[in-house]
Amino acid sequence: MKIIHDPNQMTQIVNQHRKSSQSIGFVPTMGYLHLGHEALLKKAREESDIVILSVFVNPLQFNDTSDFESYPIDEKRDQDVARAHHVDYLFMPHANDLYKNKHAITMHVKERTGVLCDRSRPGHFDGVITILTKLFNIVKPDYAYFGKKDAQQIAIVDLLIETLNFDIKLKMVDTVRESDGLAFSSRNVNLEEIERTQASSIYASLKQAKQAILNGEKDPRRLVQTVEKTLQTIDTGQIDYVDLLSFPELEPIDRINGTIILAVAIQFEKARLIDNIVIDTE
Ligand code: PAJ
Repeated sequence: MKIIHDPNQMTQIVNQHRKSSQSIGFVPTMGYLHLGHEALLKKAREESDIVILSVFVNPLQFNDTSDFESYPIDEKRDQDVARAHHVDYLFMPHANDLYKNKHAITMHVKERTGVLCDRSRPGHFDGVITILTKLFNIVKPDYAYFGKKDAQQIAIVDLLIETLNFDIKLKMVDTVRESDGLAFSSRNVNLEEIERTQASSIYASLKQAKQAILNGEKDPRRLVQTVEKTLQTIDTGQIDYVDLLSFPELEPIDRINGTIILAVAIQFEKARLIDNIVIDTE
């Protein structure tokens, strides 16, 4: 495995591989790798000739400085995980190289926003699409792998690829969970023990709602209320949102129909956790 810091060098390497018709699978991350990231790497390894993993804590997508400053980093461990998954190139760019002219051109997402994480983290997705556009142009992947845990991110990346005509296939990977159902997240290490215990109610509340939908519940408001009630057992954190929307359009609905997303965000003292389930009700 080669570790590359320089974006131009990364592009030169990629160009060589593309000349010899090798397919490129790309897994963009912010590091502190866990089993969720590993599921993406596994899938990329199975499906692509060359696997590129990027690790970059993107300052542009943090609207909260303390969240950026407390974002966990462990480069040595990330390298070990990458090697174990037979990653070909670990791309770790420096912010100075990527954001030399950071105010020269800005990007803004106009659809699939105004709800969920965009409402509580204004500007976050503008930062995500900016870094992904840059990374896609540097790495030129055939396939890009994203986790369903960040469902709004997937919906917006889907728009990005379509709107800017990237010749990239978006690959979605199921959420990987701990044994009590909590979705793996780099932010889980910032939870106190009691918060960690209570956090298992997040997935429990989503599963309960899924069962209600399978049993024929059609009223989104009633489902949201049921989830909120279960989440009230978490007295160490506050509900940021519980929302039920169409997917991937992320529009409000009056009745459960078609493909829907039920999504939750909980703010703990030092970590904000999100989770969701997407259900095809047809
Ligand atoms: P990060 O939070 O590091 O996540 C990188 C990728 O791993 C994302 O596609 C995310 O959805 C996926 N992932 C995280 N936890 C997961 C889990 N428990 N199961 C399955 N997949 C999981 O998302 C980002 O970084 C950034 O916004 C990024 C796209 C890299 C842009 O900076």
